Amino acid sequence: MARVLLEGRGELAEWRDAARALAAAGVPPEDVDWRKMGCEADLFAAPEALPPPPAGDQVRITVPPAFIALAEAVVCHSDPMRFFLLYRLLWRLQSDRTLLEVVSDEDVASARMMEKSVRRDAHKMTAFVRFKEVGSGISLNGRRKFLAWFEPDHHIVAREAPFFQKRFNDMDWVIATPKGSAAWDGERLTLSNEPCEKPDLTDPADHLWRTYYANIFNPARLKAKAMQGEMPKKYWKNLPEADLIPGLIAGAESKVLAMAARQASEPLLFHERLQEAARNLPAATCAPVGTLAALREEAAGCTRCSLHANATQTVFGEGPRDAQVMFVGEQPGDQEDLAGRPFVGPAGKVFDQAVSEAGIDRQAVYVTNAVKHFKYEPRGKRRIHQRPNMGEVAHCRWWLDLEIDLIEPKLVVAMGATALASLTDARLRLSDVRGHAIPLAAGRMLFVTVHPSYLLRIPDERLKAEEVTRFRQDMMEIQRLMSVLGESDSVAPRIGDGKSL
Ligand code: URA
Repeated sequence: MARVLLEGRGELAEWRDAARALAAAGVPPEDVDWRKMGCEADLFAAPEALPPPPAGDQVRITVPPAFIALAEAVVCHSDPMRFFLLYRLLWRLQSDRTLLEVVSDEDVASARMMEKSVRRDAHKMTAFVRFKEVGSGISLNGRRKFLAWFEPDHHIVAREAPFFQKRFNDMDWVIATPKGSAAWDGERLTLSNEPCEKPDLTDPADHLWRTYYANIFNPARLKAKAMQGEMPKKYWKNLPEADLIPGLIAGAESKVLAMAARQASEPLLFHERLQEAARNLPAATCAPVGTLAALREEAAGCTRCSLHANATQTVFGEGPRDAQVMFVGEQPGDQEDLAGRPFVGPAGKVFDQAVSEAGIDRQAVYVTNAVKHFKYEPRGKRRIHQRPNMGEVAHCRWWLDLEIDLIEPKLVVAMGATALASLTDARLRLSDVRGHAIPLAAGRMLFVTVHPSYLLRIPDERLKAEEVTRFRQDMMEIQRLMSVLGESDSVAPRIGDGKSL
């Protein structure tokens, strides 16, 4: 029996190195005892050395790309069986490449459940981490310092830290958890596996949260089950507003009855003037919450960064709510800014021609941008495009994430480096990943190509023709992937070559 001792704190690499060596040496799953450090059965039993790699030709262990995405999530799970389960899947994948498509398979189903639980935990972390300011005011490096405490079910701190780095880039912060910590100081993201003690985090701003929460609570709209589903009780103890919830729920019914019983009072005189003014206002549209129309309305008033100040309007994405593919550009150009629609100017024409030649119906796909306001520099009567900076991209990612959450495309196409940076946490070079399908969260795939306006800027005619041809080939590949997606629920195992583990 080979015994493997792992730190087991959500790092894929340590499991992968051991699994690769074991699989290459032909050690079957039932002959491996996977243990997490600190949980050794026999305190005096040393881990056995991993088997040496077989002599002669190195055995190459390959897996479908979807397995890597799955394994990255599953290793974060806190179930001690996760290493064994992953190794058994790896072992079985060597003789059955389509195994992950068999949703009824017990191993696949268990791994998918673990993946789901990790994703849910990660989602809760992004929703319920509450930073509290520590120290007083600005520190030596000119930045404010914040601390948050969170209690995840799984080892997700390292996995989620880049999300917080992007969202809270302009402040120093530490997120402490019993499963390790992450810290950001404006330059470096530091991760630690050491369990943290719960700090004392009372904050003068807590009463603001509580006042805010009590004021937005509408007793007439109370859906206690949905509310508790979204904010499960175990997170309450770390939310300043949570202890108000039972009281608000308990008092909701009597408040609604009191509201209904209250007599309508005569308006005061000056109200007539206000009512007259209100009657003359154009009727406010109010799309149902959770719809694309509501999101578009909300984004129309976006002031998350300074770009709204000079742009004509927010240029939101457009396309069907159930589009399988989402194309993401950089930001609206001059004509898009005036028209309020993405990709209707010169770059849009290049895009339209390439998609239609590839047999893609633009009306069937969702088209949007990483940044929703036009950034430009006025020069005489002209407005010259300026590339958005990473801060602006990070602010606008709020909207792009919401669009992705709502549309749930199976394939996202990043056109250009800005879209690529917005859609991936890693700093990838476009030329390294162009034409590839990269796994994203939730089983989604990302395809990377150039931005159509890059083609418009190439001065050399021959080079330009070559690049236009390449762009069209990318569109054809996207069309091919779209037809694969149309056939299967899970695209990942069928596209791309097998990846080296
Ligand atoms: N360039 C983009 O990235 N998006 C548009 O909508 C237009 C030009």
